[in-house]
Amino acid sequence: MTNDSFVLRGGIAFSDGPNSIVTYYRGYVVCMDGVCKGAFVELPSKYKALQLYDYGERLIIPGMTDLHVHAPQYTFRGIGMDAELLEWLSTYTFPEEAKYADMEYARKAYQYFTEDLRRCFTTRAVVFGTLHNEATIELMNQLERTGVITYVGKVNMDRNGGENLQEESAEASLSSTIEWLDQVQDKYVNTKPILTPRFIPSCSDELMTGIGKLAEEKNLRIQSHLSENHSEIAWVKDLVPESTCYANAYEMFNTMGTVDRPTIMAHCVHSDDREIAILKKHGAYIAHCADSNMNLTSGIAPVRRFLDAGVNVGLGTDVAAGSSMNMVKTMLITLQASKMYYRLVDEKVKPLTFEEVFYLATAGGGKYFGNVGTFKDGYDFDAVVIDDSKMFSMRDMSIRERIERMCYNDADAIIKDKFVKGKKVFSAIL
Ligand code: GUN
Ligand code: FE
Repeated sequence: MTNDSFVLRGGIAFSDGPNSIVTYYRGYVVCMDGVCKGAFVELPSKYKALQLYDYGERLIIPGMTDLHVHAPQYTFRGIGMDAELLEWLSTYTFPEEAKYADMEYARKAYQYFTEDLRRCFTTRAVVFGTLHNEATIELMNQLERTGVITYVGKVNMDRNGGENLQEESAEASLSSTIEWLDQVQDKYVNTKPILTPRFIPSCSDELMTGIGKLAEEKNLRIQSHLSENHSEIAWVKDLVPESTCYANAYEMFNTMGTVDRPTIMAHCVHSDDREIAILKKHGAYIAHCADSNMNLTSGIAPVRRFLDAGVNVGLGTDVAAGSSMNMVKTMLITLQASKMYYRLVDEKVKPLTFEEVFYLATAGGGKYFGNVGTFKDGYDFDAVVIDDSKMFSMRDMSIRERIERMCYNDADAIIKDKFVKGKKVFSAIL
């Protein structure tokens, strides 16, 4: 028996596929060497010798995956939300990211980000840094210490970033990416590099082609942005006139990935059937970022259509276009956005259910990391223990009702403990 082998007892809830949440009142979930052995109503006798932690009436759910978050934008979240994407980038975002050339600034700002990441529902995250190698390595060093498992990208941008946030040339961007990779590949246990061309307006054809090659040669994954905003989409059509659509432009540069090296595309708000088919063909993941899409007036992504088409989908907070790293808040906005899509856009597209959104936040995004995001046998043991005892009710509530209530009104749900691969990475002092 090791420290990574134990049993937790409490109000258990986990997804058993997109349409069903399994719950056990005062049930058990077993962790052996960081791997989940399943959840049970009665503890099987073979696990009775393991250390038992009884959380009483508290809730125990799988950890959540934030498929898309910008670490350097964390410190200006919630302000400057009066613009649409392109104006927001040039007015607020690029000037802020330029500050990460200063290591003292980067170190301090990344401490706020990493400490809050450790404290939230997220156990896995896919993170954008900035184009600066040194600051991105500092971010990775700090993230490694949190115990949260992440992919992190040094951003590539060789055009349209203005004077202060732009690499000199495609060649300079690629060679600094290779230098960064040499310094970080295999350096960490929990933190992996991911190639991060910001989006096509930030990356020349030459740079995109180079990134496609690098991904293949070094077997690396890619993350980027796709079809978030109408002006952005029109701009991409001008920049890559031979492309049949925005997703095809990524395809032309061999950056759409493969099933073994899936690319994450954030947003896809305006993706049509043709674009959805391209994402599906490549085994790509859509990071649906409803909070961000509301804040920047981007639109509402047709998530039900992605799911019906069999495309991989998870949720992203997209801080700072999304104003919070709280995945439970992101779940709520995902639900509300899909209800409004149904009411205002297309009544043939049914709103997402609570079951579906809980699945997307846990197992849907978790799949990007392997067997992650539920309490089935063989999954990594990522779990969050929640105290909702301050949410008074006049009657007994089921576990299912309590997690739904937490989502719709999260103010009084407190994270008590958080585990990643069986290691406790956060504990609140209540
Ligand atoms: N597209 C390119 N860069 C960004 C960014 O930082 N945030 C969002 N929401 N979209 C982008
Ligand atoms: Fe983003």
